Amino acid sequence: MSITVNINGEILSQENAKISVFDRGFLFGDSIYDVTYSQSNSFVFLDEHLDRLWNSARLIGMEIQLPREVLVQRILDTAKASGLDEVYARIIVTRGESDLNISTDQYQQNVVIYIKPNIKYDPALYTRGLHLSLVSRARNDRRSLDPNAKSGNYLNNILALQEARNSGADDAVMTNTNGEVAEGTTFNIWMVKDGKVLTPHHDSGLLRGVTRAKVIDICGSNDVVLEERTITTQELIDADEVFITSATKGIMPVYKLDSKIYAENSDQRPITEALRKSYIELIQEHINKGTYSY
Ligand code: PDD
Repeated sequence: MSITVNINGEILSQENAKISVFDRGFLFGDSIYDVTYSQSNSFVFLDEHLDRLWNSARLIGMEIQLPREVLVQRILDTAKASGLDEVYARIIVTRGESDLNISTDQYQQNVVIYIKPNIKYDPALYTRGLHLSLVSRARNDRRSLDPNAKSGNYLNNILALQEARNSGADDAVMTNTNGEVAEGTTFNIWMVKDGKVLTPHHDSGLLRGVTRAKVIDICGSNDVVLEERTITTQELIDADEVFITSATKGIMPVYKLDSKIYAENSDQRPITEALRKSYIELIQEHINKGTYSY
């Protein structure tokens, strides 16, 4: 697979894309990032993802040096250079290169954009669904590293995924340090109970997903009762339907949580399927506007 990379404004092939071993993203995970994608040569919810990138920077005390409109142009130019009409885009801003000490003086930040073909998930993940595991690894406490900052340090999530995979599941759901449901390794978590849609409140310690915000809006405009609140692990186990959201996966059903089986086909999860349909329509409407086409 070939990945087109933009490093500080220069478009490079995968082989020639190199940054310094003194970069603080490499040294300390001292960076932030965001992920979005395009469809029909047009980026999906780019404004929302860039708003979050700036918010992640704020949460780690970093002021992004690059003007936002320059970053947008680089994303569009790199996507165009890739020759692909459906791309996955990852934007990383690191605090820059420094000596081997952790102090956050003013450095020249590195801005790296990766463009590759958008991920094609196995269709069975949408028809049958995902198998998740509630892992023992807790999500970072908000007072240590706020999960709402999409930082380049994903070791917490990597360890959770490792634990889930070791138990035979596809991916992990983490609780916060109080044992309440927080989120997945790279996605937000949702449940349906007695016709109501529930998702953990952001106070539970999670990344406020762009997809999550869109699904909340969809519930509002379709008169679906939605509650953002604390969710216990027992409530999640006892749910009627469970699904996850992320930019790259959209709405993906969960058929199994550890040994609990919810539903193994789409007929058995009507609310998840209705939301999925509305979400796909919303994306199509957004793409048709072509705000960030290349
Ligand atoms: N992950 N929670 C975490 C920890 C995430 O990493 C992500 C996104 C989400 C969902 O956010 P959104 O709906 O904005 O994609 C929630 C991206 C896809 C990633 O890191 O690849």
